[in-house]
Amino acid sequence: MPPTQEIPTTSPIGRSTPRVDGPQKVTGTAQYASDFHFPGMLYAVPVEATIANGRVVKLDVAAAQRMPGVRAIFHRENIGKIFRSVLGPGFEGIIDERRPPFEDDVVRYYGQYIALAVADTFESAKAAADVVRVTYDKETPNVDADLKADDEPQVVATQFGPANRVQSERGDAERAFASAPVKLDQTYVTPAETHNPIELHATTAIWDGSTLTLYEASQGVFNLQGILAQMFGLPRESVRVITKFLGSGFGGKLWPWTHCPLAAAAARQLGKPVKLVVSRKMMFQTVGHRPRTRQRVLLGAAADGKLVSLQHDYVHHKAILDNYHEDCGEATAFQYSVPNLRVTFGRAKRNVGSPTPMRGPGAVPGLYATESAMNELADQLKIDPVRLRVINEPKIDESLDIPFSSRHLLECFHLGAEKFGWSKRTPEVGSMTRDGLTLGWGMAGCAWVAARFPAEASVQLRDDGTARVACGTQDIGTGTYTILAQLASQKTGVALDKIEVVLGDTSLPAGPLSGGSMVTGSVVPAVFAAADNAIASLLTIATSTPGSPFEKRQPADLAFDGGRVFVKADGAAKGVPFADLLRRANLRLVTGSGKSEATFGNPKPKFSTHSFGCHFVEITWQPQIARVRVSRVVTVIDAGRILNPLAGRNQIEGAVVMGIGMALLEHTTYDPQNGAPINSNLADYVMAVNADVPPIDVHFLDFPDKEINELGARGIGEIGLAGMAAAITAAVHHATGVRVRELPVKIEDLLA
Ligand code: MOS
Repeated sequence: MPPTQEIPTTSPIGRSTPRVDGPQKVTGTAQYASDFHFPGMLYAVPVEATIANGRVVKLDVAAAQRMPGVRAIFHRENIGKIFRSVLGPGFEGIIDERRPPFEDDVVRYYGQYIALAVADTFESAKAAADVVRVTYDKETPNVDADLKADDEPQVVATQFGPANRVQSERGDAERAFASAPVKLDQTYVTPAETHNPIELHATTAIWDGSTLTLYEASQGVFNLQGILAQMFGLPRESVRVITKFLGSGFGGKLWPWTHCPLAAAAARQLGKPVKLVVSRKMMFQTVGHRPRTRQRVLLGAAADGKLVSLQHDYVHHKAILDNYHEDCGEATAFQYSVPNLRVTFGRAKRNVGSPTPMRGPGAVPGLYATESAMNELADQLKIDPVRLRVINEPKIDESLDIPFSSRHLLECFHLGAEKFGWSKRTPEVGSMTRDGLTLGWGMAGCAWVAARFPAEASVQLRDDGTARVACGTQDIGTGTYTILAQLASQKTGVALDKIEVVLGDTSLPAGPLSGGSMVTGSVVPAVFAAADNAIASLLTIATSTPGSPFEKRQPADLAFDGGRVFVKADGAAKGVPFADLLRRANLRLVTGSGKSEATFGNPKPKFSTHSFGCHFVEITWQPQIARVRVSRVVTVIDAGRILNPLAGRNQIEGAVVMGIGMALLEHTTYDPQNGAPINSNLADYVMAVNADVPPIDVHFLDFPDKEINELGARGIGEIGLAGMAAAITAAVHHATGVRVRELPVKIEDLLA
């Protein structure tokens, strides 16, 4: 059972806390990137290529240029210089489409920007973009859905640097498989999926001399600052990036995309602020997607279910120029105990825009394949799928030969099975019914990396009894404003509604990417250190201000708790509020800065750090009308200490909903004739909506992981999606007898 709470219940840590920024969002005062307006601002609309492979031979802009309100039609002859950028050390300089926009005449994917109309209004710009006439030298695009690995060397370039295509290896997987008493060899396919945050990508660019300010929908303002500084040949400090609110991103807004330098270049050429909002259609073309994958999984096992070998060989598509790697093997090498293992990858170039991370990149499609294989093996062995996982639970991370910092997957299975009523499952296909419906029950496990990015923060205590906490990270909608308020409140004793949280600006202390579910884990030590330093400064003031009640004391004699300074020996009851001490010293505020180092990317970690979890899913099946509905989900997550169960549950629920979409609905389809994503709108790209969502019962274990930070909090943004599709397809099989190995499950698959 989980250990008892170490933090008293009056603490804001671990308490279900509604969003501190909720009122701003629901009253419409929260400003998103496209909500910023400036005098003289112009509007830019890109011209999209209508071929996916070929060359622009002629661009006729004459008619567009003559239209009312049009300021310029930019293309590669007149946009001005946009430089290349390079990958830096320490998770810097990352971009998935490295080629600067308009760099050459070649079109490599449908929708690639080839010109930019700028006008006084959005409507004029759109009208002008629509009349730009383009002549192409057109070639057949390759958007072939049948993925085979391109001929690439063993070590390939990826968006994060070189990677070995043999990702993990121990023992001799091939030989062990050959002699295994029980074998499974299956291939699983996941489609391209498109991020559909409600907030569109947007840039508002303003030049002031040689200083560039960008209001951008970004999950990583510092990385974007570094890239844009390179693209415009500027020192880093000459670029400021502001992202106050995000209408989510799901990974699509982690790295810069080509619309951003285009807006900045147009603003430079015209000497006016320029706003560019990417359209929903462009969201399917130019700002990334989860790539299509084809994954072969080979499992060898003894008759009792003990794994003897695991091979996971996957291929995914990528853009023509770029080197995106979707790490489907992210969780494969450590999830199970198996002496012989090999994980390899390959990539297949296609005429598509670059893929990019999408919620749980790699692990989500990867665990769909490996967890599906485990479910199939369980059926083959006639062993309960939970039991098969218990049999193969590892004691340590066998891929790195180091212990897990905190792994409680077995407790997840135990609690999930109990809450779901799994023991009542009868394994025969179609054997369970309720109210005239056939039931299918399926389950799967999941994992997601846990670590810290480097983080800096500042905390101020002010003479009116309020506090301010600042960090240049972003809130992508997950509750980062609220978490920072909770952390600052915990340390300073200031009530949540008296804490100002400032995020999303490169002029603030450098904060982490809103990525990898790592923000909360990363900022805890930085905010705590900042608060400690502000308090230390306060204690010095308390002892050095003439007339202070602590004038004769040493800082070491004093303590701070609940917003009050007191003499340790006298106890907190005799404490003085910090605001009194500041006013007496004629100080408006004291500030402390804090910093914490990264653990992510540590080449020699002492512990393997991940979150774990599992899903139990019920579907109902009506064979008469081939109708599958997810009717019940129980999800258990082991993510260390949960700092805000309300926000945390909301994250997991959202991910589970996305998992339903992944299993049953979502797919981006490319037209083989022109290479266009065909279903590039919210009517044809079908996602799970409220009507698709069953009761979702979320449980968190409470095992603080002190390797991540002093509170033991890991991340929860992504893990809830991992494993969901495997649990659903297992439930579909249990109800229908049909094994679907290519997502999403389609009605046609089930029409026997
Ligand atoms: Mo997440 S795909 O790291 O935003």
